Amino acid sequence: SKLKMFVDDLPRMPTIPAYHLSDGVPKSVSLKISMFKKKWKFHRDLPATTVYAFGRTKETATVPGPTIEALYGVDTHVRWQNRLPPNHILPWDPTIPTAMTNKTRGIPTVVHLHGGMHEPESDGNANAWFTAKFNEKGPTWTKKTYHYPNNQQPGTIWYHDHAMGLTRVNLLAGLLGAYIIRHPAVEEPLGLPRGDEFDLPLIVFDRSFRTDGSIFMNSTGNNPSIHPQWQPEYFGDAIIVNGKAWPRLTVRRRKYRFRIINASNARFFRFFFTNGLTFTHVASDSAYIEKPVTADDTLLGPSEITDIIVDFSQSKTNVAILANDAVYPYPSGDSVNEANGKVMKFIILPYPEADTSRVPERFLEYPVPDLSSVAVTRYIAMYEYTSSIDEPTHLYLNGKPYSAPVTETPKEGSTEVWYVINLTDDNHPFHIHLGLLKALDQTKLVGFDEFKDCMMKIKDAVKCHVEKHARGNKVKVPAHEKGWKNVYKMMPGYVTKIVTRFSYIHTNSSYEFDATAEPGYAYHCHVLDHEDNAMMRPFKVIK
Ligand code: C2O
Ligand code: CU
Repeated sequence: SKLKMFVDDLPRMPTIPAYHLSDGVPKSVSLKISMFKKKWKFHRDLPATTVYAFGRTKETATVPGPTIEALYGVDTHVRWQNRLPPNHILPWDPTIPTAMTNKTRGIPTVVHLHGGMHEPESDGNANAWFTAKFNEKGPTWTKKTYHYPNNQQPGTIWYHDHAMGLTRVNLLAGLLGAYIIRHPAVEEPLGLPRGDEFDLPLIVFDRSFRTDGSIFMNSTGNNPSIHPQWQPEYFGDAIIVNGKAWPRLTVRRRKYRFRIINASNARFFRFFFTNGLTFTHVASDSAYIEKPVTADDTLLGPSEITDIIVDFSQSKTNVAILANDAVYPYPSGDSVNEANGKVMKFIILPYPEADTSRVPERFLEYPVPDLSSVAVTRYIAMYEYTSSIDEPTHLYLNGKPYSAPVTETPKEGSTEVWYVINLTDDNHPFHIHLGLLKALDQTKLVGFDEFKDCMMKIKDAVKCHVEKHARGNKVKVPAHEKGWKNVYKMMPGYVTKIVTRFSYIHTNSSYEFDATAEPGYAYHCHVLDHEDNAMMRPFKVIK
């Protein structure tokens, strides 16, 4: 049976301040946020769905979780508590590297603050997982309470599960939420729309449901003799925004700020308005861009964040549908269908509205990398391996599993150039923990088959003469993605040149935590099904 679109109101997730005011002065706090198994209504006509939800209490837990509101310079301690009963609500696979074995009694989880700059012990290392009451713990588990300094550029980041081999199912079950770092002294003068009504996160993901309301995930893999359950990508038909399928929101004829997070496992979205309304980009992932960029559509890979202004006073109609036309898998797959081609509906009040917010000519300026001072250049190659029936069996970075020894050891405070070589047919959203990255350009590999053959055999870009092959068509980085980002979309058959920076961008100060500590950090593809099997590598920062 088909679910009716635009019948549920867009929820606003509860907010949790990550500070407290003492005589008007913001002070650090310790929060306890738990993971609960509970029921969640994704749609008026769909029976309640069993989910894993974040919240301070079971009653108030939501999918997505509460939005955590932090203040620049005020640190936060969070004890993430696992209260999940045994037996996963979704299928999982024991044949990929995973925290869950037949001996594990609880559900392994660990929380990563994506885009956050913090010590490795609080980074949510995939092997630092724990089950309910910390009864069982992974090999790199170090502490119960995580510490987030919030001493980075203001913007939107998000938190989500990161347990080894379970990230795709734990997020699918609901373990994700938004985290905003505000810096009023530098942001308020910008004059952008603000306050709960006019500045809101939109957390978007796709899910499929059975008629009883349960989340549908295929329990049989494409390659069952190798991986009984793992599939290369999860796609759902229903598009969920802030926990409701195809919701609606009534808006005034004025400007709004939307912080859109693509929290899908594998789906890319190319968002656009059916009535021609445009987006004005303010920030990309966690950092403001230099100046506004107006566009008709915006392509967002899994885990990417777009922070935009929509001016509904420009609307010629009283209804605007936010739609999606990105094929899946991206870019090799099928076109969208009626269901996943629609996202949500805006009902625009007919009368004009006073609007004192504005879009300034400049946002915030951050340092431009000095390429002449880059000491280290690395090649990171993306591989997909297939079985005799031509189905993917696993994906690796540099031909190595996660468990192979660390090969990337950037110096704290340094800037490096990474050439990311995509040898597969899919676009992979590439994410680096701790650091920020700036994409410079993407160059098509000519003589691709020969180059790929060589790489599959000897896994060495220099010996395979990457410079000889990287001389095809160049694709420019879109204007709104030229700033500092946490994720970049790696085009298939291209080499993408990125600059990575392992220090803050808003000041020249170094971290006030020890970035060199164990268990280090990770970089990976953010298609969760790829990350789990095992398109992820550790890295260590050194002094
Ligand atoms: Cu969004 Cu390694 O994470
Ligand atoms: Cu990938």
